Amino acid sequence: MKKKLIAGNWKMNGSLAANDALVRALIAGMGQPACDVAVAVPAPYLAQVAGIAAGSALALAAQDVSVHEAGAYTGETSAAMLKEFGVRYVLVGHSERRQYHGESDTVVAVKAQRALALGITPIVCVGETLAEREAGQTEVVVKRQLAAVIHLNGHCISEIVVAYEPVWAIGTGRTASPEQAQQVHAVLRAQLAAASEHADRIRLLYGGSMNAANAAQLLAQADIDGGLVGGAALKAQDFLQIIAAAQ
Ligand code: G3H
Repeated sequence: MKKKLIAGNWKMNGSLAANDALVRALIAGMGQPACDVAVAVPAPYLAQVAGIAAGSALALAAQDVSVHEAGAYTGETSAAMLKEFGVRYVLVGHSERRQYHGESDTVVAVKAQRALALGITPIVCVGETLAEREAGQTEVVVKRQLAAVIHLNGHCISEIVVAYEPVWAIGTGRTASPEQAQQVHAVLRAQLAAASEHADRIRLLYGGSMNAANAAQLLAQADIDGGLVGGAALKAQDFLQIIAAAQ
């Protein structure tokens, strides 16, 4: 059976002092967890967190990667740079990148490709807006987003992680019900199964106001293999409770 993955996304939060306290509390609190655990930290803090987490069960993740390999791309971070800091996972296509930075499905697919080429696992984020859900477009939207990634990375698609994050549930305190989440995860699993005979080993994370109180129910669903946690990942006790719920 595959291990669940609990990934915290700090987004644009943190400071040297706060990161130090949070990471040390997580490492001390989780010991040897039953699931895989990662934190996606802002790029300037990768070295700091890599240093504190070295030798622990806490894996390092980045929040974004460039579509380019190297060169005159001011402000970008390449997959090779992430690799040098021991990054194990990178988020691609988070809805905040799609919304505020205009990332298209194609850009997200190329980012996944760059990560895979360096042996970094892309956590491919998909999800519908409230308007799309209300228009009955949820399946169409998430399948379109995932299809672009499969199209470009079909040969190694079993190496990715997928995070379903309904945009209307992100940072709103409004969580998808376990049934709503499972329904979409089943659609994504079927799409992956059509592309790879190893689809079963792909971890599908749920993200969107996951917290200590609702994690266990969400994680009990057949096709929910972990969580991508925003706000609750900034508080050690909350994040530790989510990790404990992921057996
Ligand atoms: O990447 C994490 C997601 O955007 C979820 O954020 O847990 O604050 O709703 P949230």
